[in-house]
Amino acid sequence: MKNILITGGAGFIGSHLVRLLVNKYPNYRIINMDVLTYAGNLANLKDIEDKENYEFVKCDICDFEKVQKIFLDYEIDGVIHLAAESHVDRSIKDPFSFAQTNVMGTLSLLQVAKFAWEGQFEDKLFYHVSTDEVYGSLGEEGFFTEETAYDPHSPYSASKASSDHFVRAFQDTFGLPTVISNCSNNYGAYQFPEKLIPLFINNICKNKPLPVYGKGENVRDWLFVEDHARAIDVIFHGGKVGDTYNIGGFNEWKNIDLIKVMIKTVDRLLGREEGTSEKLITYVTDRAGHDLRYAIDSTKLKDELAWEPSLQFEEGIEKTVKWYLENTEWLENVTSGDYQKYYESMYKD
Ligand code: NAD
Ligand code: DAU
Repeated sequence: MKNILITGGAGFIGSHLVRLLVNKYPNYRIINMDVLTYAGNLANLKDIEDKENYEFVKCDICDFEKVQKIFLDYEIDGVIHLAAESHVDRSIKDPFSFAQTNVMGTLSLLQVAKFAWEGQFEDKLFYHVSTDEVYGSLGEEGFFTEETAYDPHSPYSASKASSDHFVRAFQDTFGLPTVISNCSNNYGAYQFPEKLIPLFINNICKNKPLPVYGKGENVRDWLFVEDHARAIDVIFHGGKVGDTYNIGGFNEWKNIDLIKVMIKTVDRLLGREEGTSEKLITYVTDRAGHDLRYAIDSTKLKDELAWEPSLQFEEGIEKTVKWYLENTEWLENVTSGDYQKYYESMYKD
């Protein structure tokens, strides 16, 4: 029996990872530790919540004593740390909560792991899930590799970069066994509709304006979320301790082109005439410090651990749009209440 602590397991990527590991490893006990912020939603895990090898514990990663007790009670062997504040626009409005959760929360977890595992580091692993945004912004050409120097621009990416540095510092200073992965933009089911893809699918369905930042020319590399979860599984089990792995889809899209694909797909699936919703495109003030282009080179992961994305983007986006169209109750639940206030404050101009 292995006891694996997953932080942030009620969020978007975390819930896909929890589902994968619970179903794939019946001999592991998967402990999902999440404080359930606006982005954490236990409805994301309804299908596996009764499994014998799954447990949920409500806890803030910053609560050192409570986390320490969880480590002892569950005899934790491995941590996969995803809990974070994750939305760039929110980090521009409120950088403090990003430093608190992403930096102090990660540091607190590292300290707990170090104390709990002192003298028995073999067979233990602290896996930190990070982002390609720590590398900054690319021009027209080139890719982020594992050797690219850190150059974060937003409070979100600065907080993630800082947490990555703390993880490496614990590896180098104390010998805590760690591994880090830096992934590109994820898309798929259960993503909170503050991020581009679910936000725009929802707005197209409801005939609401589509707020395109700047000229829509920024480029992102999109990866299907279940492929990210598979990559984390592969790295957790086969990655080299102390190493970093980049995860990406080799799938770059200019925002405006991606938005047109979403419009086409939603219109077709709703039986609307092709292009009907193009009129919803509304160019708005650009995001402050908006990184132009992200592109990840995930060759190391392919060469060392034989991981590759399983889905072509066209298939992934079709599946994703269908999921949001079929799961209107989920969408209604997460967009009621505070979401309206968030939306008004974020898109008021
Ligand atoms: P998310 O915002 O959907 O989920 C974050 C989860 O963390 C939520 O369940 C939330 O309740 C929980 N959480 C937040 N603060 C917490 C705290 N103090 N204590 C305990 N739990 C807390 O995020 P996501 O998009 O699933 O991202 C997960 C991780 O992957 C993050 O670390 C993010 O930086 C990283 N990442 C995300 C992407 C992406 O495209 N979404 C890409 C690369 C890396
Ligand atoms: O690259 C990995 C990162 O991807 C993760 O670390 C972050 O947690 C995740 O949120 C994501 O960050 P982005 O800022 O790239 O994702 P977002 O969905 O917010 O925006 C994608 C692009 O779309 C970006 O260029 C900004 C633009 N955009 C976004 C929103 C929400 C718009 O034009 N309009 C919008 O309303």
